[in-house]
Amino acid sequence: MDKIVIEGGNRLEGGVRIHGAKNAALPIMAASLLLDGPSRIHGIPDIIDIQTQSEILRNLGGEVKKIEDGSLEIIFRDGENDDKFTAPYELVRKMRASICVLGPLLSKRRRAKVSYPGGCVIGQRPVDLHIKGLTALGAQIETTEGYINASADKLRGTHISFAGKTVLGTCNILTAAVLAEGTTTIEYAACEPEVQDLANFLNKAGAKITGIGENKLTVEGVQKLYGVDYEIIPDRIEAGTFMIAGAITGGDITLENIRQDHLGVVTDKLREIGVEITPSGNALRVKGNNTYRAVDLMTLPYPGMPTDMQAQFMALLCIAEGKSIITEKIFPDRFIHASELRRMGADIRVDGPSAIIRGIPFLSGTEVMVSDLRAGAGLVLAGLVAKGTTQIHRIYHLDRGYEQLTERLLTLGAAIKRIKE
Ligand code: EPU
Repeated sequence: MDKIVIEGGNRLEGGVRIHGAKNAALPIMAASLLLDGPSRIHGIPDIIDIQTQSEILRNLGGEVKKIEDGSLEIIFRDGENDDKFTAPYELVRKMRASICVLGPLLSKRRRAKVSYPGGCVIGQRPVDLHIKGLTALGAQIETTEGYINASADKLRGTHISFAGKTVLGTCNILTAAVLAEGTTTIEYAACEPEVQDLANFLNKAGAKITGIGENKLTVEGVQKLYGVDYEIIPDRIEAGTFMIAGAITGGDITLENIRQDHLGVVTDKLREIGVEITPSGNALRVKGNNTYRAVDLMTLPYPGMPTDMQAQFMALLCIAEGKSIITEKIFPDRFIHASELRRMGADIRVDGPSAIIRGIPFLSGTEVMVSDLRAGAGLVLAGLVAKGTTQIHRIYHLDRGYEQLTERLLTLGAAIKRIKE
């Protein structure tokens, strides 16, 4: 197992290019199961979760190959491999997002057997809303021996009203509904940019989805979808993580390949804290300061503050003057990083779904452990500014979602290295 070692205190400077969005790429790759013929998908990050998803698709009879850096060709053909419909525990346990093959399998192969993803360290991760939505479309679903077993002779368009916003749940209903008979309406749909990207991909392949980016999606079922060329949106969470890297080190960095419209709330909050941000087209310059102000923030569904940015903001607020309160509305238990930040000297008290952070003049380097992908990002950011050496263990979580993180931070001037333990 590798660890990351950081000597804190270096100011980051220079430019960094943001990769395609992991959380858009994963459901889009799964949705290629619905398409007849080859698809070329560009802007795919080179990370472990993409490798896991590729393995799941190969297991289902798909051809998945890298055609150049950041581009995959995925081939499924109508009428082939219909007897393959299982996403096994060995793969699903590595990545909860594998649940997004459920909708495409059910739609295309009429059967799906997907290992029940279970909970994870960021909190409970139920799939009841996925199951309710697919059942409303006509699927029979039961959970036996740790697997979700779903079948459907025919899927029929219907009206679905989600009881809570779910990103991958919305993706599963969309992918099941695009080839269903008739019209499906999804009320209270998730409108995250990653869900919009999936809908745009499906439309390019021949689907008829309207209301993209709104709370209500309408899907008019079509007979067939065809392979396409598609470019994934830039990763707003990777962008936000680098924005905070620039800010926390009092640096001056420019991010290339970003979507300003996807970063609205992150940009506003960073400005409120005292960071200078200058967007220009698809680039964005971040200039840090020596002192920052405490703020309150609450994670919410898009366009609210993403829960996937919560740990990174917490790292920055540890050294902002005053008392900040972070309220986690998506995953109320997603605070394991708070105890690790406390080991670095942070003054954080977790009270139910809220964390109260009292800013301190500096963090101190020590040994810390990563509990999940975004917690790991928060700890790396803390290490960049901490006095002394920070050693970060269990960094395989970071490899799941950030491509070449240490190398890119090194290029920006961080004193960071990866060491085999
Ligand atoms: N929920 C239910 N029932 C369901 C589904 C969800 O109650 O059937 C609840 C969850 O417990 C949670 C809330 O709804 O409280 C939102 O969960 P959601 O379903 O939206 O999460 P997800 O689709 O499983 C995706 C991202 C996560 C991100 C969340 C929230 C992917 C692959 N994953 O998960 O990303 O935190 O949306 O935005 O898209 C990450 O990248 O590190 C990550 C965890």
